[in-house]
Amino acid sequence: MAETRFLRDYSPYPFRVRETRLDVTLAPQGTVVSSRIEFERTGAGPLVLDGGTGLRTRSVTIDGAPVDAAHLAMTGETLTVAEAALPDRPFTFAAQVEIDPEANTALEGLYLSGGIFCTQCEAEGFRHITWYPDRPDVMAAFRVTVRSDLPVLLSNGNPVAQGEGWAEWHDPWPKPAYLFALVAGDLKAVSDSFTTMSGRNVALNVWVRPADLDRAGFAMEALKTSMRWDETAYGREYDLDVFNIVAVDDFNMGAMENKGLNIFNSKLVLASPETATDADYERIEAVIAHEYFHNWTGNRITCRDWFQLCLKEGLTVFRDQQFTADVRSAAVKRIEDVVTLRGRQFREDAGPLAHPPRPDRYEEINNFYTATVYEKGAEVIGMLKRLVGDEGYRKSLDLYFDRHDGQACTIEDWLKVFEDATGRDLAQFKRWYTDAGTPKLTLAENWDDEAGRLTLRFSQATAPTPGQPDKPARVIPIAVGLISQNGDEVLPTRVLEMTETAQDFGFDGLGSRPVVSLLRGFSAPVTVDRKMTTVERAILLAHDTDSFARWQAGHDLAMDSLVAMARGGSVDPVFTHALGGVLDDESLDPAFVALVLRLPGEDEIAAEIATRGATPDPDAIHQARDALAAELAAEHERGLSALYDRMEVPGPYSPEAGPAGRRSLRLAALGLLSRLDGGARAQSLWDSALNMTEKMGALAALVRLDRAGPALAEMEARFGGNRLVMDKFFSVQPMAAPPARAVPVASELAERPDFDWKNPNRFRSLIGGLAANHAAFHAGDGSGYDFVADWLMRLDPVNPQTAARMTTVFETWPRYDADRRAKARAALERLAALPSLSGNTGEMVRRILA
Ligand code: ARG
Ligand code: ZN
Repeated sequence: MAETRFLRDYSPYPFRVRETRLDVTLAPQGTVVSSRIEFERTGAGPLVLDGGTGLRTRSVTIDGAPVDAAHLAMTGETLTVAEAALPDRPFTFAAQVEIDPEANTALEGLYLSGGIFCTQCEAEGFRHITWYPDRPDVMAAFRVTVRSDLPVLLSNGNPVAQGEGWAEWHDPWPKPAYLFALVAGDLKAVSDSFTTMSGRNVALNVWVRPADLDRAGFAMEALKTSMRWDETAYGREYDLDVFNIVAVDDFNMGAMENKGLNIFNSKLVLASPETATDADYERIEAVIAHEYFHNWTGNRITCRDWFQLCLKEGLTVFRDQQFTADVRSAAVKRIEDVVTLRGRQFREDAGPLAHPPRPDRYEEINNFYTATVYEKGAEVIGMLKRLVGDEGYRKSLDLYFDRHDGQACTIEDWLKVFEDATGRDLAQFKRWYTDAGTPKLTLAENWDDEAGRLTLRFSQATAPTPGQPDKPARVIPIAVGLISQNGDEVLPTRVLEMTETAQDFGFDGLGSRPVVSLLRGFSAPVTVDRKMTTVERAILLAHDTDSFARWQAGHDLAMDSLVAMARGGSVDPVFTHALGGVLDDESLDPAFVALVLRLPGEDEIAAEIATRGATPDPDAIHQARDALAAELAAEHERGLSALYDRMEVPGPYSPEAGPAGRRSLRLAALGLLSRLDGGARAQSLWDSALNMTEKMGALAALVRLDRAGPALAEMEARFGGNRLVMDKFFSVQPMAAPPARAVPVASELAERPDFDWKNPNRFRSLIGGLAANHAAFHAGDGSGYDFVADWLMRLDPVNPQTAARMTTVFETWPRYDADRRAKARAALERLAALPSLSGNTGEMVRRILA
């Protein structure tokens, strides 16, 4: 069991590093790393360096002389040189260690992926490469020599020199070790260049395996768009002569912002119309932007310690969301982001893993790369921007970059910048960073007909979360508008600032009682409790000028019907009718209509039922959702069928928002229509489609009907050699299969020789795919829980990080019935009982079961 680290225990490192030199001679089993680190004392104490058990240490010297054994202590985790053995002036610590990249299946530190040497050092991977102060507040310039006979040798910064079998790199910008990277492989690049706002020329490369070269062009375009956007929107210019991106197949996360050398999961780089969906393209564009934006928010200004992770991640997610909103549709992007936030972060906040965006304790930092740190961290910045206004936000960010460039900062530094730039007191606002849990906002309306006055009485409450029983009131920006009964907007958006537990806001001079359009643009990450008739919701769905609130009204209508149906009730005709209005409205953006047509997912329905104080029944929820889809299809068959034909996108494929939106509406219609036509349209779309978006839309519909045999066989025949496409093959089947078929289907897939489960993408596709099939994972006989737990037991010793992350599929277990709870608990306890259980997974299971 790892020890708990506390934010309150922070103390500065007693040395500054003036420069770090590395000389790395690569070999699969015996890579030799020679380091020379120039230290300068800034405080008292011995020299303590981090390093892992995987380091075979050959020598340790100070200023060239071996350190006397009496002054040197090495444990599995640290190397300590006693104060007595350290000179008073600056000194050079040098070590030579040997490491084994081939044996590194945890994919942390230096490892091999398909013959490519690569690194992942965030958060604490550098200590698996050599002895070092592996903490983000120790920043240094790096000079690195890479030796290997592989053709492409890369590290951070600018290339200095190269020769036969070696290359030297220099990164002049001081950085923490977590931003170090090194790559060597037989790679080919799509290359281009970019002229920055001040006229400097930057060489750009996207490095991939030679066979993948024809699928790297889109990533390059996304990079150039991102670089220009950061100049225009934030005034941020790139600061090196080269920017390299490398795609590797084995990667625990999405991608990594190493200075000047971003390393990506290949699924977030490679795209062609035949192999990637519209959603893949959008995600690639967003993640390329995200990692690029880290160059300023993360790299030039980094985190003092890992408790501050949301300082860089929340801000960088916020920036990538702004970017996507700008280059695609802002309205659609906001709705998509809210759907993701609720599906992942609200879920986390409501369960045993709830933690604040800035946690104050952790055992294993890799377990805190969460939806709360990332997505809620971004929401908090959105609220801040709404409160200080666009101009205040811009002034604050300018001051942030000015004041803190080159530093390792805290959330306090960040908030101080806003206070200084805008004069606002943010003491209460800070709770959003330090307190866990999703506030529930309750609205009661009081209409005074005589006075023409509407009073909105808001109250807020946040349920206790682990370790935080009491939740004081937060400042909540509530954007509202008023819509008349005949659909006119009588009050445009106004932001109410709620600061108390209960608070009234009045609106005068109203001729008749309006409908309140609440939480426009999703102005705060809260849940809403209000009484509203279905007719009022239908008015908002038909007329609201705020597209988020408009979508929300439709979503609420669907949810109410689903919850009622899961309890044996029936669909509300007001909803069916209102939906018809949306289908007929040709002025609406097809992508928006597609979002309105997408019914709440089964997990979201279960969460809603739990919120309303009942126990969700996964089978009943599945049936209700099927039944609603079938009813909507029957009711609107003509409209949907017309839409399906009208939304066909002619001509060559383009991943842009316009055509992608039409395809998403077409596929949403297909999803409903396939409930009526036995899969005829889906089969014919599968047969004729030229792009992966339509193929996957058709395939999912066929799998749901259990009629996908021929399509799957064809997919395998054509794409058997393409790992990314085969990941889709492995995920769509367990995910979309009828619940009773899902575990057998997944078990059969797990037997295939190409189920390379040590590859995180492949593991997540199959095991994660099954866990995403709500009624299958929560099957009453416990087979879903057991299937996933068995695989986690197998993965944990090989790759603890990815195993630990996937335990979160169990985080909702407390919301189900006693029988399911007992089965989930038993599965988790089997996992917890593994004698060799990793610290990563151990922490997660303990927290989930607490
Ligand atoms: N900083 C990376 C990003 O946000 C994530 C890397 C996290 N890696 C990890 N092993 N926890 O893009
Ligand atoms: Zn990030």
